[in-house]
Amino acid sequence: MTQTEDKVLSTGDTPLVPIEKIVSLSKRRGFVYPNSEIYGGVSGIYDFGPLGVELRNNIRRYWWWSMVQTNDNIVGIEGSIITHPRVWEASGHVENFVDRLVDCKNCKRRFRLDHLPLENVEQNKCPECGGELTEPRLFNLMMETYIGVVEGERMKTYLRGEACQNIYLDYDNVLKSSRMQIPFGICQIGKAFRNEVTPGNFLFRQREFEQWDLQFFVHPSEMQKWFDYWKEYRVKWYEGIINHKDRLRLRPHGPDELAHYAKQAFDIEYRTVLGWQEWEGIHWRQDWDLSRHSEYSGHDLSYTDPETKERYIPWIVETSGGVDRTFLNLLLDAYEEEPPSGKDKEGRTVLRLHPWLAPVKVAVLPLQKNKEELVTTAKDIHNRLKRLMVSQYDDVANIGRRYRRQDEIGTPFCVTVDFQTLEDSTVTVRERDSMTQIRLAISELPSYLLQRVTWNYA
Ligand code: GAP
Repeated sequence: MTQTEDKVLSTGDTPLVPIEKIVSLSKRRGFVYPNSEIYGGVSGIYDFGPLGVELRNNIRRYWWWSMVQTNDNIVGIEGSIITHPRVWEASGHVENFVDRLVDCKNCKRRFRLDHLPLENVEQNKCPECGGELTEPRLFNLMMETYIGVVEGERMKTYLRGEACQNIYLDYDNVLKSSRMQIPFGICQIGKAFRNEVTPGNFLFRQREFEQWDLQFFVHPSEMQKWFDYWKEYRVKWYEGIINHKDRLRLRPHGPDELAHYAKQAFDIEYRTVLGWQEWEGIHWRQDWDLSRHSEYSGHDLSYTDPETKERYIPWIVETSGGVDRTFLNLLLDAYEEEPPSGKDKEGRTVLRLHPWLAPVKVAVLPLQKNKEELVTTAKDIHNRLKRLMVSQYDDVANIGRRYRRQDEIGTPFCVTVDFQTLEDSTVTVRERDSMTQIRLAISELPSYLLQRVTWNYA
């Protein structure tokens, strides 16, 4: 991406961040690494480093808290990646989970037909070189695997193509074991696998990724009400964790975009250098899933209302988003390169992550490394704070450079132990975004920081 392209793709005065900057920061600072890099890597598969795993855990925990813990009519499960192969016949994935691909006869590039501009589809023309395209071919995205050790007796099955299928498989058990009544929901966070033919754009389209799903079971007469409710709830949820709210929108699917299981769908989209792209899907799955699994398994999944005794197959509202896309979008949303200013002569790169989600919550820094009392006091503060939140101790390089190191990974607070600390047991607390500093008693630090960095700290 060139500087000029950068500018063209900017919103007002906040430029959209090129993905390459996030890739580079991720590798340099330990957020994300290419998988099996020493063997040349595997396209569309990534590993998460020390900071990445903290950020990822915080994202997951916040979703779980706001979807499961704070809603009395929602419970969670954790299902397996491998299921009975019939699941994927019933779900329609064996038959319908396909991408249409075309190849350019000239430059040999491969494209998903649904990703090509309409003009290129109509003229059968490659968007890169103008060459002629082949007829579309169908590719199933399910990843196959085998259970069993004896050749000939091994059963072919699949790594799950969407995590939500476990929820339908466990629906009846949850109903019987948890005293839930319709309307109620089941949530899950888990890995999904897709043989994406054109993985790319870093974490955006991977072959192994993680999804979060809510499947909310309702009476058919209440479907519209709950569909609207969850659309609004999820949009607000995303608004709550980003800085650039103008880059978020809700877009209805056209009839030609609907997945095989959806009668209606909306995408929550976020705008990056890739344009407007799906972050989460809100799907009107109706009775597709429970009807199909009833039919294919022979196990009746209908529900009997305990009061009216009405018997029916519950309809489903699904909210299905990606942990990895959230991870990527949050980095793209938070990343900023600030030019030198009066306060900061060198300029800085700062990740304006929400303090709830930031991988490191606080850094404790002695002003000087060679003053033993400063070092001992700073280590003591760090040792106490690290039991409550992720804290880093750092005494390498001058204080300005240490602040910048923390800004770059999104640490919302830096605590500096200086000579005044030795006299009155106070420290300075520097805030990442404003760079303002306040003076606080060491004894007040834990509650002050917990209040600022924890979503459920009352
Ligand atoms: N159960 C419905 C379902 O799987 P989906 O729209 O295919 O719907 C839901 O996927 C979410 O999973 C997407 O909104 C996106 O955030 C994430 N996702 C889908 N495919 C992905 C991929 N190849 N790499 C990373 N995330 C992906």
